[in-house]
Amino acid sequence: MTLAAIVAHDPRLVIGSKGGLPWHYSEDLKYFKKITMGHPIIMGRVVFEELNEKPLPGRENIVLSRSKSYDQVPTFSSIEQALAYVANEELVFVIGGAQIYRQLFDKIDKLFVTEIHQSYQGDTFFPEYRQDIGSVWKEIKRDDHPELSFVVYERMAHN
Ligand SMILES: NC(=O)c1ccc[n+]([C@@H]2O[C@H](COP(=O)([O-])OP(=O)(O)OC[C@H]3O[C@@H](n4cnc5c(N)ncnc54)[C@H](OP(=O)(O)O)[C@@H]3O)[C@@H](O)[C@H]2O)c1
Repeated sequence: MTLAAIVAHDPRLVIGSKGGLPWHYSEDLKYFKKITMGHPIIMGRVVFEELNEKPLPGRENIVLSRSKSYDQVPTFSSIEQALAYVANEELVFVIGGAQIYRQLFDKIDKLFVTEIHQSYQGDTFFPEYRQDIGSVWKEIKRDDHPELSFVVYERMAHN
């Protein structure tokens, strides 16, 4: 199983503000949909609440929570249980938020990053990985647009 993370962050690695996204880029939402479609997605309870507890269509939605369980989606109270559930899948996406990225970061094989060029105010950050580009992470794709860049990294090593 390949475990991938998909994230949009600004130049300071801001990913969220007050439980939501600090920005709205329809281009990025379209990219997220295209990349994740057909694959299981793992998310934290806060992200699922942002979706108004409605699973994203065309993907198996898997939620991590120690406090809640939902009828509409498999919910797990540990990372290990969630990973066991998807063990036979070919490609699985970790879609956040910060707590989930942080805990799964060392297991992530592939990173789909949307670099947001403008800086935003925020309270939630993606783990710092940029010092490891070239040693741990190899850039395998970059697509620059005026307001954002779509970049894909593959893990070369564990640090
Ligand atoms: N820019 C992006 O690409 C992007 C992507 C995703 C999210 N975000 C932003 O990130 C923010 C949300 O991130 P967050 O860190 O606050 O929340 P989160 O990671 O979405 O969810 C945190 C919750 O997940 C559950 N959880 C965490 N670790 C767990 C574990 N090991 N086992 C079981 N459950 C576990 C807990 O739920 P319980 O409290 O129910 O136990 C915890 O409160 C929002 O602002 C969102 O917009 C941005």
